[in-house]
Amino acid sequence: MGANIKRCKNIVKQDNEVVGAACRVPYYPLVIKRGRGAIIEDEDGNEYIDMLSSAAATNIGHCHPKVVEAITEQAKEIIHYTPVYTYQESLVELAKELTEITPGNFKKKVIFGLTGSDSNDGMIKLARAYTGRSKIISFVGAYHGSTYGSLSISAISLNMRRKIGPLVPDVHYINYPHCYRCKFGKKEESCNLECIQELEDSFKNYIPEEEVAAVVMEAIQGDAGLIVPPEKYVKKLYSICKDKGILFAVDEVQQGFGRTGKWFGIENFNVEPDIIVVGKSIASGMPMSAIIARSEIMETLGPPAHAFTTMGNPICCKAALATIKVIKEEGLLEYSRKLGKYTIERFNDMKAKYPLIGDVRGVGLSIGVDLVKDRSTKERDKEAAAKICYRCWEKGVLLTFFANNVLRIQPPLVITREQMDKALNIIEASIVEYLRGDIPDEVLEIAKGW
Ligand SMILES: Cc1ncc(COP(=O)(O)O)c(C=O)c1O
Repeated sequence: MGANIKRCKNIVKQDNEVVGAACRVPYYPLVIKRGRGAIIEDEDGNEYIDMLSSAAATNIGHCHPKVVEAITEQAKEIIHYTPVYTYQESLVELAKELTEITPGNFKKKVIFGLTGSDSNDGMIKLARAYTGRSKIISFVGAYHGSTYGSLSISAISLNMRRKIGPLVPDVHYINYPHCYRCKFGKKEESCNLECIQELEDSFKNYIPEEEVAAVVMEAIQGDAGLIVPPEKYVKKLYSICKDKGILFAVDEVQQGFGRTGKWFGIENFNVEPDIIVVGKSIASGMPMSAIIARSEIMETLGPPAHAFTTMGNPICCKAALATIKVIKEEGLLEYSRKLGKYTIERFNDMKAKYPLIGDVRGVGLSIGVDLVKDRSTKERDKEAAAKICYRCWEKGVLLTFFANNVLRIQPPLVITREQMDKALNIIEASIVEYLRGDIPDEVLEIAKGW
């Protein structure tokens, strides 16, 4: 593979001339033409097994026939009429569905958006309005989006923050509990949740707890390198929030809709957030997001405090209803758990062979493979990640990395076992070729990642 990418290269060249670089994270000149299930085809007719799912936005696979049908039928009726001024049945149906599938046995309400970022902005507004407090606690490494609000609660990239300040004020960042790279030098056996201590210390020294509106957490920190927090940490954090009247808000934009083998990532930790933000896979890649919050929180903001003309688009609503139905009917939660377990085992087998792999972690089909220069220092190996991803692309696997060195394994949940095996074999072959020094340095000029 990789021999014929003439059309793709030409389109990328033109793209670079007319599209702003700020909206891109470059890996390779892949120009998408079509997708079916877990397979992507480029403009030159090359096929790839997808390990990225359009950044976790197409969990039920590309162009699922039920979603295509729902979109097509709705488009024949009406493409959009703003729900800011009018009402629509599919939006109500979807809102009801979301209040049912999200954790929390309490009355909830929903506000729709267009993309994860804007719903995270809405979450900040709601948390501040409900509590009458201004401070938000977020995490180092968090990614919540690219609008001013969501960016302000993110702390993952200097490039995202340079030149554009000031950002939304009163956001504080604590360390995310990262057991493989523990900031406090602890191992599982010796861990006393020192990272929670850090938060408690901040309440004693510089963050007045009565001014904190919400703690905002990714159930699994995605773009920081797929970091799975210990359950005891999440439970403790949750109980601190409850004690202090702080809202516990969870960003499920990346981990939601079956990615981790549950509807939502936070269900793996047995706590019930006050506010949940969803996006990406909700409508199989159609532009949609939503805030789902306790009713009393939603009711603190009146019209039109969080309204967008194209929010809750009927085609997106129908696509979302079809997506949820497919997840239920095809048993994708269970499949994600099962295939995820198998995939982690396969990567652990590779870890036993290649010291380059420092850590394999994840839940369901949300898996990170942490590449290191040295297992004792855990120094991140960006060169390896970039070269391996590039070689995988050449061999027909769409693979990316985050946090400079962590291979991102988030395929569509409908990927077959055979496709997964083929992709894993190609990833392993690419690792071997990297270790042999077969992948040229020029690749690093192209596969830049974050
Ligand atoms: C956890 C998380 N939150 C929010 C966002 C932002 O979503 P969007 O790009 O749809 O605005 C992302 C996107 O990658 C994400 O991973």
